[in-house]
Amino acid sequence: MALGLFLVLAAFSVATPIQESRAFQPKSGPSAASTISSQPTSQTQLDFSSRQQGHDVSINCTLRDASTTGLSLVIGMAVSRITDTGELVLASVTSLGSAPITHTGAVTSSVSLDGRQDSYINIEWSSANSSLEGDYVCRVNGLDVNNSPVVLSQELSLTLQEPGPGVRATPEILQLGLTKLLSIKCYISGFASNNISEVTSIGLSYIHDGIDQLLITHSVFEGTEIKPGSGVVSSTGHLSTAEDEENFLEATWQNPSLNRTGKYECSFSGLDTSGHPVYFESTLELNHVEPSKEELLQQLEDLRNKFESLTQEKEDLRAERDKIELKIRVLEESVKGHKICDTVDLPVGKYPIKLFPDDGQGLVEVLCDVVSPGDVWTIFQKRFNGSESFSRGFVAYDVGFGSVLGEHWLGFKQMKRIMTTGKYQIRVDIADHNSTSYTRIYPQFSVGAFDGYTLTVDGYNDGGHGLSFSSGAEFSTLDHGPQPHCAAQDNGGWWYYNCAFTNLNGQWGHAGESGISWFELPDGRIHPLTKTEMKFKKSSQP
Ligand SMILES: *[C@@H]1O[C@H](CO)[C@@H](O)[C@H](O)[C@H]1NC(C)=O
Ligand SMILES: *[C@@H]1O[C@H](CO)[C@@H](O)[C@H](O)[C@H]1NC(C)=O
Ligand SMILES: *[C@@H]1O[C@H](CO)[C@@H](O)[C@H](O)[C@H]1NC(C)=O
Ligand SMILES: *[C@@H]1O[C@H](CO)[C@@H](O)[C@H](O)[C@H]1NC(C)=O
Ligand SMILES: *[C@@H]1O[C@H](CO)[C@@H](O)[C@H](O)[C@H]1NC(C)=O
Ligand SMILES: *[C@@H]1O[C@H](CO)[C@@H](O)[C@H](O)[C@H]1NC(C)=O
Repeated sequence: MALGLFLVLAAFSVATPIQESRAFQPKSGPSAASTISSQPTSQTQLDFSSRQQGHDVSINCTLRDASTTGLSLVIGMAVSRITDTGELVLASVTSLGSAPITHTGAVTSSVSLDGRQDSYINIEWSSANSSLEGDYVCRVNGLDVNNSPVVLSQELSLTLQEPGPGVRATPEILQLGLTKLLSIKCYISGFASNNISEVTSIGLSYIHDGIDQLLITHSVFEGTEIKPGSGVVSSTGHLSTAEDEENFLEATWQNPSLNRTGKYECSFSGLDTSGHPVYFESTLELNHVEPSKEELLQQLEDLRNKFESLTQEKEDLRAERDKIELKIRVLEESVKGHKICDTVDLPVGKYPIKLFPDDGQGLVEVLCDVVSPGDVWTIFQKRFNGSESFSRGFVAYDVGFGSVLGEHWLGFKQMKRIMTTGKYQIRVDIADHNSTSYTRIYPQFSVGAFDGYTLTVDGYNDGGHGLSFSSGAEFSTLDHGPQPHCAAQDNGGWWYYNCAFTNLNGQWGHAGESGISWFELPDGRIHPLTKTEMKFKKSSQP
């Protein structure tokens, strides 16, 4: 029903005379925020007015306390432009909740149902020009106390001021502590209608206690000049005789404090169309508001977030630097020419290192395990995800397979090149099916000569259900050694002695003896191990 009423309303329009545009008055320039009054056509409670500040123009239609006008219910409100062909609705709002519509500008509006609060439509245009000039109508429809439809209307004839001379502050009101940049701009344009042919200089002053402090000037001869003590951090100015260009001088301050509020004055000097000098001014009162607690909290929050992201960035950079530093140290260790991992000086971790045995037959790449500083082992067997097959022949176990960064067997040839003089110990690090880790260290460890590679381990009591069972056995594979049938049955190469209680080269993922097993562990023969590492280092006792 409300929308239907609007359509009926749109049919009638009332013409009103348009205001003459105002001629410029030297010495008493219009203030920056002068109000153009509406021309009421009927006596209603509707207040329809316009406002102009620089290039920003707004029109506002307000219904005050509708109950005193005999309205029991406000149904809707609309603002339209009156054109030659009829009325164009620019914005409407109804109590039924329909969204405001607009063809130009921004709209803010509110309707109060019982009419006890103000209802209004406000339309704002920035960088307005003369195309907005013309007639507008505001209508309200509702019901009276007898529930009969009532229509109130008010017209407005909009005439824009010539732009300038004027002065504008951005923001218009200083928010102490929150406003980061304050700019004040003196501007003038539209020479012809102001009877001006040229502006030769513009000055901006701050007036405090009756004292006039010149802050900055801009002239055709000297350009921009910022006066000492003005606090201005940047400024721009432009003077031109072209009719359609704005002449201006703009100054900017950073983090303005309370002492920036007060009265500012722009003074313009120039020549009128007859070549006589003219002078005019425009003033502005800059006020401030204290920021609300919510705004301060928001600012605090923003700063905290910024601080946190910077801290994070710093930590990321530090981590990246540490990573690169470590890479450099690892490379340095490789070029030092270690003969065994034992002497490598690196923080706890596992590193691929190039060893240079004395035999002159070139380098051996191994994975060194720094268990703690000074406690460094040379890994010769490593499994963790089943990507490498360990079901291989003798040659493979002799020369090695896999890569030090993945699963691998270093190879007897390499082990023998590294384990030359002295005595060695062996360390076995294994993890069971639910990732519980176990470490076994046998203080005596040796591997015999090619091609038996007989194992000797001693010094740790595994009850005969660990590696000690294999001590004294030769290495067998499917195709080599004394017990190839064990290698076939247990799927790997190992020191079998009528098979074994340990089988770290067994089949990945298989349960029982043929899988990766270590019978000494609680579930070592039921579930296959999920991680194995065999490593050696020199004995502490010679
Ligand atoms: C429109 O004018 C009314 C009355 O002066 C005022 O309460 C309201 O805030 C104005 N709306 C806007 C957006 O300025
Ligand atoms: C006035 O402003 C409107 C809308 O921004 C634009 O389309 C039009 O070209 C402008 N007219 C003049 C004379 O600048
Ligand atoms: C412009 O101002 C001069 C005096 O300053 C006056 O003689 C002249 O008539 C004015 N011109 C117009 C068009 O108002
Ligand atoms: C305004 O106050 C700030 C700090 O509060 C000070 O640095 C500056 O010199 C003052 N400016 C003037 C013009 O008093
Ligand atoms: C095993 O680990 C290696 C090295 O991290 C990786 O390249 C490979 O894709 C993994 N394979 C499987 C089967 O997870
Ligand atoms: C490890 O596995 C065994 C079964 O073999 C189970 O009893 C035990 O609870 C598991 N432990 C954990 C920590 O999952």
